[in-house]
Amino acid sequence: MPPAVQETYGPADLGATPLFGGGFINFGHWQGIDLGPVLTEEDRIRSQRALYRHVLAALAPTEGLRAVEVGCGLGTGCAMALEEYGFAQVTGMDIHPQQLDRARRAQAALLADQADRLRFVQGAAESMPYGDAEFDRVYSVEAAQHFRDLDAFARETARVLKPGGRAAVTSFFVPDADPARPGQLAALLHTFATGLDVAHSIPELTGSLERSGLTDIRVTSIGAAVWHGWDRWLSTMWQPGTWPRNFLRAYDDGILDYFTVTAARPGA
Ligand SMILES: C[S@@+](CC[C@H](N)C(=O)[O-])C[C@H]1O[C@@H](n2cnc3c(N)ncnc32)[C@H](O)[C@@H]1O
Repeated sequence: MPPAVQETYGPADLGATPLFGGGFINFGHWQGIDLGPVLTEEDRIRSQRALYRHVLAALAPTEGLRAVEVGCGLGTGCAMALEEYGFAQVTGMDIHPQQLDRARRAQAALLADQADRLRFVQGAAESMPYGDAEFDRVYSVEAAQHFRDLDAFARETARVLKPGGRAAVTSFFVPDADPARPGQLAALLHTFATGLDVAHSIPELTGSLERSGLTDIRVTSIGAAVWHGWDRWLSTMWQPGTWPRNFLRAYDDGILDYFTVTAARPGA
C-alpha cells in the first residue's frame, strides 16, 4: 500500500475529520442543496449520500444483482446499495485493513441482520481477490485517484464482471492528456504533492478500460454539481489562500474535474 494511503486511512483516519462525516469520505454531489446560507453537517452528509445515489442510479437495473464496491471506506455506500437499490449481495472491498475494521463496526447491525447479503473483504483495485465473472456490477466512489495502476484496475474489473455486467467509477481526474498537469496539480494541491492522489487523466482511464475489453464507455463531467459545494464546505474550515481551496481553482483553470465513467462487459 502506498505510504500516504496507509497513513491517511490508517492512523490519520480521514473519515473521522469534520470535513467528512456521516460514514462517508467524499467531496459530495451538491445539486439541489442551497449553498447560500450557512451549510450544516446535515447538508454535508446529504451531499455525500447524493454522490452515491448518482453512481448507484447509473448502474440500473440493480434489483437482485451482485455488486462489489472498490474502495468502500466506511461501508455506508454498501449499506445504501443494499437498502435503497435492492442488490441481492454487496461486497465492500478496501485496500486498508483499518478501514475495513471501521466499516465492520459501523455496519455491525446490518452485517448481523443480513449476513448473506453484505460482506467486507480486503483487496486492492489492481488485484481483486475474486474469481472470474463473480459480479453483475462493479462501482467505485472517490477512490480511483488513489489507484496506482489503472490498466490493472480495468483488467480486474473486466475479469470479475459477468458478461453483460456493468461498471461505474466516479472521482476527480485530469480532463486532458497534457503532460504538464501532474506538476501543475502538485504545485496547487498538497494531496497530489505527497502522492496520496495521482493525477490520472480521463484519456488514460478510458484507454485502460478499452484495452481491458470493456465497451460502451461513457464519460460525464459532474463538476458543476461537485466543486462549488465542496469549496463552500471547505470555506467553513479553511481560509481563502490555503491549499484545499485550490481544488476549485484547479477546476476553474481546467486542470481537474469530477467525472462519472461507465462501461460494460460485452456479452449476454
Ligand atoms: C476517499 S475514500 C472513499 C471512501 C468511500 N468510497 C466514500 O466515498 O465514502 C478512498 C478509499 O479508497 C481506499 N483505497 C485506496 N487505494 C485503494 C486501492 N488501490 N484499492 C482499494 N481501495 C483503495 C482507501 O483505503 C479509502 O478507504
